[in-house]
Amino acid sequence: MRNRRAAVAAMATAASLALTLTACGQSGSGGSKEDKGDSKGGTIGIAMPTKSSERWISDGKNVVKDLEAKGYKTKLVYGEDDPDTQVSQIENLITQGVKGLIIAAIDNKSLNNVLQEAADADIPVISYDRLILGTENVDYYASFDNEKVGELQAGYIVDKLGLKDGKGPFNIELFAGSNDDNNTKYFFNGAMTVLKPYIDGKKLVVRSGQTALNQVTTLRWDGATAQKRMDDILTSSYKNQRVDAVLSPYDGISIGVLSALKSDGYGSGSKALPVITGQDAELASVKSIIAGQQTQTVYKDLRKLADVASTMVDDVLKGKKPEVNDTKSYDNGTKVVPAYLLQPVSVDKSNYEEVLVKGGYYTDAQLK
Ligand code: GAL
Repeated sequence: MRNRRAAVAAMATAASLALTLTACGQSGSGGSKEDKGDSKGGTIGIAMPTKSSERWISDGKNVVKDLEAKGYKTKLVYGEDDPDTQVSQIENLITQGVKGLIIAAIDNKSLNNVLQEAADADIPVISYDRLILGTENVDYYASFDNEKVGELQAGYIVDKLGLKDGKGPFNIELFAGSNDDNNTKYFFNGAMTVLKPYIDGKKLVVRSGQTALNQVTTLRWDGATAQKRMDDILTSSYKNQRVDAVLSPYDGISIGVLSALKSDGYGSGSKALPVITGQDAELASVKSIIAGQQTQTVYKDLRKLADVASTMVDDVLKGKKPEVNDTKSYDNGTKVVPAYLLQPVSVDKSNYEEVLVKGGYYTDAQLK
């Protein structure tokens, strides 16, 4: 029944166009862009992964604000990092009659059945930040250039250590995100493209020997899990050695890794902290960067992501084709999902003021 959804979608588009036209005719508005058409008053369901990370709280708020500005009601739910909870939350949203879904998945492979229910009810689905895998029932993908995120993290390490000037060898340890998040491999592969030549050339040494993705993942991006792994690595592989850099894919992981390092005496006396990357420019990490602990983060402007995702769902409901800028990179195993990818930016002590404060993401007062 692969084509059924397309057929239903086409019929729905035609029907919604007809409705929009009727509505325009009645209101005499001439179909201006501001006309909310038949979408006015409809409810969009937003399923976010967890409140334990600041970024998803911002994502939720931003998407709600943008959708309300477009005339929608919203229902925002958080799955507390439990895939089953998220599935039943989405089921509830469908039962409650939402017109569209914006989903940041917890486990990208667990949504097959529930998204079939969404398709049967002709509810369009926007995959938010993380690509949903293994189902044809995902319409569009709004995210950042995820491979670039990894390249920025690794490129930062290369620059800071002076590897291009021939310096080294240095010791590095590698961390990756959750293995059930499709982004994880993009971040890691992006980083490894940059780091591998130096690892192969012995200018970077991974003393733990853990270089394969399945050895370095961190379930649910959990900081405590990363802290534990770093503790173990320091004990087993760094008794007489110093770690010079840590590739960390996300601020919550960086904070965990930093705790392990500090417990081991790094950051005091002559034992300098290693170069340590991150992602999301979360408040605690930006403060840590200012304090000279975490070294770098990758900033992704979540206001823009929310805008892209809410515009996508609005366009689909109005029978308009959403703007995309990538139609080949994100194959979810069943189809290539058309995507709009935003650009991430590397941030450290030297440019946080310019990027984050002047850019209106944080105020100076917040960073005190
Ligand atoms: C990823 C996301 C990152 C980070 C991480 C942990 O999917 O792209 O920006 O937030 O989850 O929450």
